[in-house]
Order: sequence, then C-alpha cells, then structure tokens
Amino acid sequence: MAVLFDPFQIRGITLKNRVCVSPMSQYCAQNGYANDWHFAHLSRFALGGCGAVFTEATAVTPAGRRTHGDLGLWEDDQIEALGRIANFIKQQGAVAGIQLAHAGRKASERRPWHGETPVNDEDIGQRNEHPWVAMGPTGEPYGASWPAPKEMGQDDIYSVIEDFGAAAARADAAGFEAIEVYAGHGFLLHQFYSPLCNSRDDCWGGDFAGRIKLSLEVASSIRRHWPQDKALFFRISATDWIDGGWDLDDSVRLAKALKEVGVDVIDCSSGGIGGPHPVPRFPVGPAFQAELAEKVRRDAAIATMSVGFIWDAEVANSVIESGKADLVAIARELLSNPNWTLHAAAELAVDNDYSMWRPAFGWWLNKRERIMKKLGLRDNRS
Ligand SMILES: Cc1cc2nc3c(=O)[nH]c(=O)nc-3n(C[C@H](O)[C@H](O)[C@H](O)COP(=O)(O)O)c2cc1C
Repeated sequence: MAVLFDPFQIRGITLKNRVCVSPMSQYCAQNGYANDWHFAHLSRFALGGCGAVFTEATAVTPAGRRTHGDLGLWEDDQIEALGRIANFIKQQGAVAGIQLAHAGRKASERRPWHGETPVNDEDIGQRNEHPWVAMGPTGEPYGASWPAPKEMGQDDIYSVIEDFGAAAARADAAGFEAIEVYAGHGFLLHQFYSPLCNSRDDCWGGDFAGRIKLSLEVASSIRRHWPQDKALFFRISATDWIDGGWDLDDSVRLAKALKEVGVDVIDCSSGGIGGPHPVPRFPVGPAFQAELAEKVRRDAAIATMSVGFIWDAEVANSVIESGKADLVAIARELLSNPNWTLHAAAELAVDNDYSMWRPAFGWWLNKRERIMKKLGLRDNRS
C-alpha cells in the first residue's frame, strides 16, 4: 500500500499526498521581495506533484533576515509577488505554504557560497551589502568570529511576537494556506528554547517554561491573525545532539504546549544551535531524523513531518506507513528532480500511465511510453 499518496487533512486544508517541499532559501530576493526566480523555483514542485509547497525562510522583519537575499513579508507591498506564487501553486492542486522566520543572532550572514560568515567589507565593496546588528536572547555570538548580538529587551521581544502575527495576516492575504514557523537550526526561537543559548534570568529564559515562552507567544500571535481553518506547522530542532542541550523529551513537552495554542504539525529536524559548543555528532543516513518525528508524534499525540536525507520512494513511504510521521519534507532531492513525487508514484505503482502528471506533460510521456513498449524498448515504466 502506497500510503505516501494518501491525502492528509489539517483543519480545512487537504494535501493530496504526503510529500511536502521543505523550505529552501534561494538568497536572491531584493529587500525581501520575491521575484521570477522564486516563482520558477517553487512552481516546478507544484507541477511536479508535491502535496504542499513551502517557500523558503521568509523574514518577518528586516533585522530577522539571515542574509541580504532572504525573502521577507514585513510590509504589505511584499504580498503581491508572493501571492502570484501561492496562486499558481494552488492552481496545480498543491497546498501553498510559507515559512516565517527570524534569524536572531544568526542574522547578517553571508550567503552559503560567500562563506556563511558574518557580512563583511567584501560584501560592502562587491554588492553594497552592509552588516546590521543581530539580536538574540543574550549577547553570546553565534560563532567565535561573529560579532556579539544585541541582547533583546522586553520591547524587542514583544515586537517580534507582533511581527510574526502581522506577517501571518499578510500570508493570509497572499493566499497561503499553511504557515510553518522556523524554530529550528539555530534561528531565533531555537536560540530561546535551547539551554545552550538562553541564559536569561527573566520570564523569557531560565527554566523550561521560560525558554519555550517565546515559541508559544509567537504561535498564539499567529493564530490570532491566521484563519482557524488554515494550517500551522512548527519546524523545530528536536534535539541539539549535545549533552546538556535541548533533547527529544523537551521536544515532546514543547509539542504538547504548542498543540494547546493551535499548532497542527511539528516538523522535526535537528541541530544547528552554534555557539561555543563542540560540533555535535549525529547519525546521518536515510531518513535519519524519522525517529525524532516518531517520538513526538506518539508521545505528544500531534501530527509530525519528517525531514532529512529522504530521497527514495520506498523509504519515504515507509516513514509514513510505519507511523513515524504523517508527512515527509524533501529538499535536495527535489532540487535534483522537481518531478520526484510523480516518479515516486510510478515506482510505488500508484500511477502507471502518467495520469498524475499535468496533461501538457503526461499526455506526451504516456504516448511515448506506449510506443517504446511496442518497440520492445521498455517492459514497464518503473
Ligand atoms: C538550498 C537549501 C536551502 C535551505 N533553506 C532552508 C530554509 O530556508 N528553511 C529551513 O527550515 N531549512 C532550509 N534548508 C534545510 C532543508 O529544508 C532540509 O531540512 C534539509 O536540506 C534536509 O533535507 P534534505 O536531506 O531532503 O535536503 C535548506 C536546504 C537547502 C538544500
């Protein structure tokens, strides 16, 4: 049974299958505005049969961008270009999702291919891109060679909570049907909930309740601005993979609390907290984070999405079939092959005649297939 192609309902939203496009930053926005590259990049996955297509990390405020090229949704004029993308994704029968983000102390970073180090004089000289002051729960920098971020005051914290809510309202206006909050990989909310990064002694730090407070406030703020029938995902780093850090039991407790404030799906990634800690060692391999999603799903009784090193149709299907997760998110394999989902349907014998493809593609491929079979060039499609 290819459960990977079973529909999945969240509130008033139905995904036609369990394959989601994992957020993938393209670092090519200008002042946060989406452009034709984002349209082409995301449209390919909608044409390629994915159940939901999530945009890359989209900053809720300019200071919350990781790089100068990040997408943003901090002003109303940014709605139109994103709306065009959301609209096309929906026309292709996929759910349009957007990932909302604040990079916290990880802001003002160079693009991956420029070194993933803080923005510096070279960026000013070559691209007129200037550094800005990042903010975090404390003044501890992301890395040894990074400038100290500004320690956030109460006003900064309340502004961020409002920024997420306002961006959610704009996401709704743009026509998105699902929001994912980026709360993993060392971004702001992860910085607050991980004990490795948050040493505040006010109500936003200290014990577990204090450290998860910002995540809960952000989720609540979004729910106040986001229709009840639309879906809310939360991407967490389910473990820091470091002794004394955030662990899987913490994630279960966080997931239970997030569920109470209206979060529907926990997207379970891991790692990335940074700081002066040893680089964590974790067991990379096919679907290596699925066990994290499994525990959160079972112990917190909430839907989960599994991400990381999923590229094989059978593996993706088994993650769902074994009850480890309700959804899979795929990133790099979709860059390699945006039609991965449609090929997976063939491999899992869900579609034997290209009928799941858009007719403008599928009709021709089916015709060619029949000719090839007649000529003895193919036994069967898979
Ligand atoms: C080009 C690229 C950009 C990424 N940008 C984001 C992002 O904006 N937000 C995010 O949560 N993860 C981001 N990631 C991580 C992916 O969403 C995913 O978690 C990771 O690549 C593991 O999945 P994979 O093995 O299927 O690639 C990015 C990954 C890639 C390859």
